[in-house]
Amino acid sequence: MFQRTIPIALALVVIVGLAIAYSQAPATKGSAASNATLVARGEYLVHAGSCNDCHTPWVMGPKGPGPDMTRLLSGHPADMPAPEIPAGVLGPAKWGALASPSMTAWGGPWGISFAANLTPDEITGTGAWTETAFIKAMRTGKHLGAGRDILPPMPWPNLAKLSDDDLKAIFAYLHSIKPISNQVPQPIPPTGH
Ligand code: HEC
Repeated sequence: MFQRTIPIALALVVIVGLAIAYSQAPATKGSAASNATLVARGEYLVHAGSCNDCHTPWVMGPKGPGPDMTRLLSGHPADMPAPEIPAGVLGPAKWGALASPSMTAWGGPWGISFAANLTPDEITGTGAWTETAFIKAMRTGKHLGAGRDILPPMPWPNLAKLSDDDLKAIFAYLHSIKPISNQVPQPIPPTGH
């Protein structure tokens, strides 16, 4: 009796083990594939959404200025101080905004804003952000979905119109790219001229 139960119990353990292994295998494969699909969709949306126009520093190339893809989406370079906005340049009948040659610093009636580091660096980028905070920030125009107002020219009202699935895809792509340590400066308030 005793001798018979042990092999039966062992067989049961093996069968249950195999069943678990088989039930998990397709799920794991499926989620890896769906994450790759999500990242690919996110890359497509980031390119179509022109995020590189402001979040990747531009440099002068042989064909004129363009985004430096070695610093993909790493935001305004920490070692590039923004020049002061000359008095009398901005105004209703003058200029509405000015951009740095890197296209990452923007001067306007809101002061000077600096494009954020969107790479997954834990300290200076979006590495420690949750998907929920990212989606909330894009929907509400508040830093991390709860802080200060996100300044122009960040086109968050356009991104707010995307579906949750599209915003999740963008976040998945941003978390898939190379982390770059770059501490973007805080915005500078307007000086009054
Ligand atoms: C026209 C320039 C411009 C474009 C295009 C742009 N951004 Fe921004 N973005 C900015 C600036 C400038 C800031 C910093 C604003 C601030 O400090 O308040 C910013 C901030 C952000 C932030 C930080 C939000 C927060 O909570 O602090 C995220 C995330 C972001 N952008 C994502 C994107 C994505 C994704 C795209 C493309 C779909 C994109 N941006 C396109 C200029 C731009």
